[in-house]
Amino acid sequence: MKRIAIRGDLLEVTADPGFGGTQSSKVRFDADHWLLIEDGRIAGRSATEPDAGWTRHDHKGRLVTPGFIDTHVHSPQLDVVASYGAQLLDWLNTYTFPAEMRFADPAVAARGSAAFLDALLAHGTTSAVVFPTVHKTSVDALFEAASARGMRIIAGKVLMDRHAPDGLRDDVAQAERDCTDLIARWHGRERAAYAVTVRFAPTSTPEQLDMAGALLAAHPGLYMQTHVAENRDEVRWVAELFPRARSYLDVYRQHGLLNDRAVLAHGIWLDADDRALLTDSGAQIAHSPSSNLFLGSGLIGWTALQDAGAHVTLASDVGGGTSLSMLRTMADAYRVQALQGVRLTAWKALYAATRGAARALHLEHEIGSFEPGTLADVAVWDWAAGPVATHRDAVARDLHERVFAWMTLGDERNLAATWVAGRELYRRPGA
Ligand code: GUN
Ligand code: ZN
Repeated sequence: MKRIAIRGDLLEVTADPGFGGTQSSKVRFDADHWLLIEDGRIAGRSATEPDAGWTRHDHKGRLVTPGFIDTHVHSPQLDVVASYGAQLLDWLNTYTFPAEMRFADPAVAARGSAAFLDALLAHGTTSAVVFPTVHKTSVDALFEAASARGMRIIAGKVLMDRHAPDGLRDDVAQAERDCTDLIARWHGRERAAYAVTVRFAPTSTPEQLDMAGALLAAHPGLYMQTHVAENRDEVRWVAELFPRARSYLDVYRQHGLLNDRAVLAHGIWLDADDRALLTDSGAQIAHSPSSNLFLGSGLIGWTALQDAGAHVTLASDVGGGTSLSMLRTMADAYRVQALQGVRLTAWKALYAATRGAARALHLEHEIGSFEPGTLADVAVWDWAAGPVATHRDAVARDLHERVFAWMTLGDERNLAATWVAGRELYRRPGA
């Protein structure tokens, strides 16, 4: 048996802390403990140093968390991060579609997927729900790169048969064949899972949406991912394209696309009926605050979603979002709530980026916590980087203050090491 022990300040959120206060019974913090890993899985924790039968990694004074789960991110969009001056629909046409075209080339897709996953790991993210491109080869490349790293990746071929440029459109029959092949090859293989991936309602015909719904019905256990109600011009366009739907979200319901494995990015412009539909279906909103601020999309009503009982997880949405860092994502989520007079604790943010995401994805047995038996996907962090954050950390009076300062001031420069299933796949030089 392979035994590994990682020393540090162990932090996890054990259940949804809601929009409660900074003192929470849902937080487990074991300062200066050893996290014990056996054959790639969490075995427990120890206050004392384990014996020489364990390979010990001493990160005393560092923070140790479950690896982050980014529930919505685009593998081909590292090329368009930080693109100036556009809202969603312009941004897609001007920057994003041309970049995605390049992933038609298998060599570009292979290089891009490897670089993308290494970048996730270098930001402390060990699992992700990912949009590659319309090209089948982009999905194979991503899953192959994920398999080489042992990462939990949920992804699928992007479906788009209209309102997209040449080279970036499929058709219903070809898309169905590609999806069926990819499902057979990847779904349930190692840590891969297939997601039926409708880009968003405007880029699929009703016939393609029906095909996507039929795939979900034929293969229980598949995920579904798409975008919904991100931008006001987009919402107006969907109302024109689908006049018989009650709302944007209702388009997906009508085509059999909403279930408890559906991951819908954004969900800013929803009403009470939409929120009830989310709750009834068990679908989750992948809240992408960095993207929502950067593209000027709007401010999500997280508390209304919470009150309705809907799942909300956190996502970078790179390249609409400007950073793969889930610390920055949590800090942006705090700002989005602050603009609406709501306080987002570090606990709620951390939950949405770890265990809450695992739960909404039905993967709590595998990721998101330090529960014994889950896979050892772990991130090790400096509490602070640089003199200002180091000072702020030193004067913090309680645990929430300290974790909140880490999340607000920190980013990937705080990351010391990332482990996936008990293998160290990233270590900062010198850490
Ligand atoms: N809606 C449809 N496609 C996209 C995309 O690539 N990024 C974002 N943020 N929204 C979308
Ligand atoms: Zn997106």
